[in-house]
Amino acid sequence: MKQKGDDTAFFGQPKGLSTLFFTEMWERFSYYGMRAILLFYMYYAVNKGGLGMNEVTAASIMAIYGSLVYLSSTVGGWLSDRIWGSRKTVFIGGILIMFGHIVLSLPLGTGALYGSIALIVAGTGLLKPNVSDMVGGLYSPEDRRRDAGFSMFVFGINLGSAIAPWLVPWAADGFGFHAFGTETNFHAGFSLAAIGMLFGLIQYYRGGKKYLATDSNKANDPISHEELQAIIKKTLIAIVLLAIILIVMFMLGQLNINNIISLITILAIAIPIYYFVIMLHSDKVTKVERSRVLAYIPLFIAAAIFWGIEESGSVVLALFAEQRTVLHIGSWHFAAANFQTLNPVFIMILTPVFVWLWGHWKKQPTAPSKFAIGLVFAGLSYAWMALPGMLHGTDGRVSPFWLVGSWFIVEIAEMLISPIGLSVTTKLAPKAFQSQMMSMWFLADATGQAINSQIVKYYSANTETQYFLIVGLVSVIFGVIMMILSKRIHALMAGID
Ligand code: GLN
Ligand code: ALA
Repeated sequence: MKQKGDDTAFFGQPKGLSTLFFTEMWERFSYYGMRAILLFYMYYAVNKGGLGMNEVTAASIMAIYGSLVYLSSTVGGWLSDRIWGSRKTVFIGGILIMFGHIVLSLPLGTGALYGSIALIVAGTGLLKPNVSDMVGGLYSPEDRRRDAGFSMFVFGINLGSAIAPWLVPWAADGFGFHAFGTETNFHAGFSLAAIGMLFGLIQYYRGGKKYLATDSNKANDPISHEELQAIIKKTLIAIVLLAIILIVMFMLGQLNINNIISLITILAIAIPIYYFVIMLHSDKVTKVERSRVLAYIPLFIAAAIFWGIEESGSVVLALFAEQRTVLHIGSWHFAAANFQTLNPVFIMILTPVFVWLWGHWKKQPTAPSKFAIGLVFAGLSYAWMALPGMLHGTDGRVSPFWLVGSWFIVEIAEMLISPIGLSVTTKLAPKAFQSQMMSMWFLADATGQAINSQIVKYYSANTETQYFLIVGLVSVIFGVIMMILSKRIHALMAGID
């Protein structure tokens, strides 16, 4: 019989990796391409092709949208584990995402925006955690190609994320011909995002049948009839509660987008707290495991602060690119949306450097210390952005190299936090809560962005210097506290590095 280890068709890796690599590459292409132009679509005036929303609301929606995408991944992981199996869950997710982009590609206004957000939040929740999970499933436990496989997969994520901020804005701009006159045709851009997801789906469908294990077609912990009934009951109660909250808000005349965003913010903070309480009190968790969960609390807080800053690249830094940055170098002109390529490009450049560093550094810092240094860098990337305002005032435009520098610094932080966090999360997970812990990692991102949706309201050209300094300082201070506590946190990790 053929063993999992025999298949080396994709650069020495199983052929299934090629299928998952391109699926996720196209999915991220569509997501980050859409996000590169979405903020501008929301607040540009109607005669410029936008929706003419208030800028602060638009920024707040960007952040809470990013938060919801990662909140929903908890549900996606669960549905795959207990009901559909990962292969089908990913496919359904991809379809929803594609329709989400199609909805935006039609000139249907604000209603379509919310419809699209709902589809893409649900779709990404189904697709993203499970496509990563299937990468792990390609390898038997003793297969030594696993880490390299994951690195290639992450490269695929960043490749799609790096190309999209060039192609999608280019389509929105009439492919360089200004075919749509002076206005931007955002819908053309969103169509390209939809086409990207379609490519991903086609090759996933064809490759999946041939190269992905048939057991990915089944739930690995199928739900029993009684459990299902109990869950349906709980879900219905939750829906009714939510409906009551919304109705009360409506009756008080408070049902507006800002209050809905605040409600989601509260949820995005409450859900991880709930998970921590459950894990710490469960009798399925041993004493050592409990200590590891405790160690995970400061790591979670650090991750939330880091993702808050990292994810603000498509919100606050995008505003800075549009309003405060000279959009050409010599005769080379570019769009504000193009800056979104910098994050994934720096990840691709820095990853080999850090892989080398961790491979050669004998007495390297522990995970909590790496997180602490990461927070300091994340804070510095913001403090750096306070400089142009301090040096040149906040009225005119400044060199694009300020933004380039900020992204470079925050990506050093990402190298110290993202891959380390992913691996330490799996290792600190109690046996009975493996997949819930994985969700926690995405929840940290959701919490960070939910907080962004509130604080971004204080960002404007008048306040930009203070904004960057204060948020940057908070991150640096947390980094320093974490550094001081890192020995204790490491001790709580009970033998995990
Ligand atoms: N940029 C990463 C991605 O798209 C972010 C994921 C995360 O861990 N929050 O995959
Ligand atoms: N920063 C995005 C991610 O981490 C592109 O992959």
